[in-house]
Amino acid sequence: MKKPALLVATTGWNAETWAERLRARLSDRDILATDRTGLFQGPDAALAPVHYVLVWKPQQAMLDRLNGLRVIFSLGAGVDHIFALPRLPDVPVVRMVDADLTRRMTEHVIWQCLDHLRLGATCRRQQREHRWRDIEPPAARQVTVGIMGLGVMGRRAADALVSLGFNVRGWARTTKALAGIETFAGRDGLDAFLAGTDILVSLLPLTEGTRRLVDLKLLKTLRKSGPLGGAVFINAGRGGTQVEADIVTALRDGTLSGASLDVFEEEPLSPQSPLWDFDTVTITPHVAAVSDPEALAWQITEQIEALERGEPLRNCVDPRRGY
Ligand code: NDP
Ligand code: OXD
Repeated sequence: MKKPALLVATTGWNAETWAERLRARLSDRDILATDRTGLFQGPDAALAPVHYVLVWKPQQAMLDRLNGLRVIFSLGAGVDHIFALPRLPDVPVVRMVDADLTRRMTEHVIWQCLDHLRLGATCRRQQREHRWRDIEPPAARQVTVGIMGLGVMGRRAADALVSLGFNVRGWARTTKALAGIETFAGRDGLDAFLAGTDILVSLLPLTEGTRRLVDLKLLKTLRKSGPLGGAVFINAGRGGTQVEADIVTALRDGTLSGASLDVFEEEPLSPQSPLWDFDTVTITPHVAAVSDPEALAWQITEQIEALERGEPLRNCVDPRRGY
C-alpha cells in the first residue's frame, strides 16, 4: 500500500522541480505539484491521500481542497505567506531552519555592514568619476550595529559581527542574555536600542507586531552622530516591516546616509521606485538567504519519516505569535 502523499503548492515558483527532488527520496508515495498559479489541475480524488503540503505563498482555494491534511511545511524560514490566508486548517505549521540558510543570511549581513563601514558607495562613485581621492573608513569598533530580531538568523549574524570587531546590540520581543551583545526587549526597550545604533539591521518576521514598524519616526531615533555620517538601514527580514516612502524621505533629508534592502513592501520592486536611484542604496532581489532545495528536501523527508515513527515535529510555529 502507498504511504500518505505530498503536495508541493507554490505560487510563482516551479513546484515540479521541488516535487522531483522529493520523488527521488520518497519513492514509495505520490508527490503532486501545483502549477505556477498555486493550483492543482488534477481531480479531487488525487488529493485525498495528501497528508503533507509544502508551500510558498499558498492559495486559499488549494488548501481548502486538502481534506486529509496533517502538516503544512513552509518552504522558507518565514511563515507570513501562510498566516496571510484568512482560513488555515487546524494542523501544525513547520518552518525551515537550516544551517546553510542561516550561513547565507550571515554572509549577506556581513557583506552589507562591511560595505557601509568601508564607504563602498563613495568608492564606487569615485570609480565612476575616475577620481582618486583619499577616504577614511572608520574602524569597526567605532560603529554599533543594532539587530532587530534575535532569532536563528539574528543571533548568528550578531556573533559574526562581534567577531569582526563591531559593537553589537540586539532587540527582540522577549528579554535575552547573549554573550558580548547588549540586548533590549519589547516596545519599552526600542527607543534606547535605536538611540545607540549606527547601522540598523532588521531580521524580523512579518507579523501584526512588526508590520510597518520601520517608519520615519523610528529612523529619526537612530544615532546620526556616528562615524558614518548618518544612520544606515539594512533590511533582509520582510519588506512589510518597513515604510518605503519614509525610507526615501530619510535618505533625502540625511536621516539615513545609506541603506541595503533585500525585501520590499511589494515584490518585485516597481521599476518606478525612487529607491533604485540612490547610489547610497544597495538593492538585492530577495536573495539574502536562498534555500538550498537539496538541504530542504532532506529536512522535510526526515521530518515526515520521524513523524510517521511517532516522533514529534521540529520547528513548529506558534500560530498565536505568527512566527
Ligand atoms: P526567528 O523566528 O528565529 O526569529 C525572529 C526574531 O524576531 C525573534 O528574536 C523574535 O523575538 C523577534 N520578533 C518577532 N516579533 C517581534 C516583535 N514584535 N518585536 C520585537 N522582536 C520580535 O526567525 P529567523 O531568525 O529564522 O528568521 C527571521 C526572518 O528572516 C524570517 O521570518 C523571514 O521573514 C526572514 N528571512 C528572509 C530571507 C531573505 O532571503 N531575505 C531568508 C530567510 C528568512 P523573540 O526571540 O523574543 O521571540
Ligand atoms: C524565507 C525567505 O523566508 O526566503 O526563507 O524569505
